[in-house]
Amino acid sequence: MSILVTGGAGFIGANFVLDWLAQDDESVINLDKLTYAGNLDNLASLQGDSRHIFVRGDIGDTALVDRLLAERRPRVVINFAAESHVDRSIHGPGDFIQTNIVGTFHLLGSVRAYWEALKGEAKECFRFLHVSTDEVYGSLTKDAPAFSETNRYEPNSPYSASKAASDHLVRAYHHTYGLPVLTTNCSNNYGPYHFPEKLIPLCILNALAGKPLPLYGDGRQVRDWLYVKDHCSAIRLVLGKGLVGETYNIGGWNEKANLDVVQTLCDILDELRPRSDGKRYADQITFVKDRLGHDRRYAIDASKLERELGWKPQETFETGIRKTVAWYLDNQSWVANITSGAYRNWIDKQYGTRAR
Ligand code: NAD
Ligand code: DAU
Repeated sequence: MSILVTGGAGFIGANFVLDWLAQDDESVINLDKLTYAGNLDNLASLQGDSRHIFVRGDIGDTALVDRLLAERRPRVVINFAAESHVDRSIHGPGDFIQTNIVGTFHLLGSVRAYWEALKGEAKECFRFLHVSTDEVYGSLTKDAPAFSETNRYEPNSPYSASKAASDHLVRAYHHTYGLPVLTTNCSNNYGPYHFPEKLIPLCILNALAGKPLPLYGDGRQVRDWLYVKDHCSAIRLVLGKGLVGETYNIGGWNEKANLDVVQTLCDILDELRPRSDGKRYADQITFVKDRLGHDRRYAIDASKLERELGWKPQETFETGIRKTVAWYLDNQSWVANITSGAYRNWIDKQYGTRAR
């Protein structure tokens, strides 16, 4: 038995693959294009582990995906692959349309053909789990209730619009063709292997490098933060117990303003790695021009997942963020490879001249 994971060299996908193989002997076929966000260093601990089969490729490459499905015969497909950074989607939406919408469309086509040809229990038990985001619901006012699964889709950025479109395609493939799908919509993740373009890892690394900690606008935008391992455990649960065709919101009940998040990071760093000049890391906070169309507040109501499937996050924000800061302090070679771009050199060497 095996599972097929797409985007498993990225932040959440890699955490998912590592956690899966730490708990289970079922093999993982990991299909990842290795864009700038895909990093095989994240999976270094799996080197030589025959349960992990890495394939470099695009979810939109129908011939490749068809072949993988036919040869490997996974019992589920979990789709993490996406362009994921809102700021990049503002500067250049094209890749987001291509991967998140067109890529998901092609992937669904391949998976549908594979599933339709399955027989008996294999067909009955097959699942396609699509990993999505709370950003599809748009922005909340200060006192509005948290997003539930029945909230209207109101995406505001090219990123969230492309994810919303992919969610709709997944839904349509269930409604029209009966494909057994599950969709999860999660809030902001943080934890190990987070690419330092996103707020938390960016601020940890900038703080240590003596650089400014850039907060957009007034720094009072609110996000709900979930430790990445808790997101992975929720996905496992939905995969095992979720009802076909349903969507499940995943969140940590941890609404925080960006300024408070960064202040907390600074306080932990002051304690664990004080600045050599005796000053405080918070002195490095700077307010910069706001993100275009910046959503003010996200909040997730995860009660359906808790009530129906019995999920509970293990980490509070306080425990998770402390682990995260410690992880970055303890993994300086990972950090150095990412910041220097050395991990890209390795990818070019490994794959640059190889035919598929
Ligand atoms: P990431 O950017 O760190 O990783 C994305 C991975 O997908 C990379 O390894 C990349 O190489 C791969 N990829 C990109 N395009 C591909 C393609 N066409 N074919 C194959 N692989 C491709 O993203 P992440 O933060 O790990 O997010 C994973 C998923 O979870 C995304 O779908 C994202 O929308 C969703 N999500 C993320 C968060 C979050 O806070 N990061 C929260 C909720 C949902
Ligand atoms: O809500 C889930 C989403 O969370 C995921 O779907 C996305 O893939 C993921 O990237 C994340 O999106 P955000 O835009 O919320 O994450 P980011 O870390 O980029 O920003 C978090 C908040 O911090 C947001 O309000 C913007 C702000 N910010 C971000 C950066 C990079 C800053 O103030 N300064 C910064 O330099």
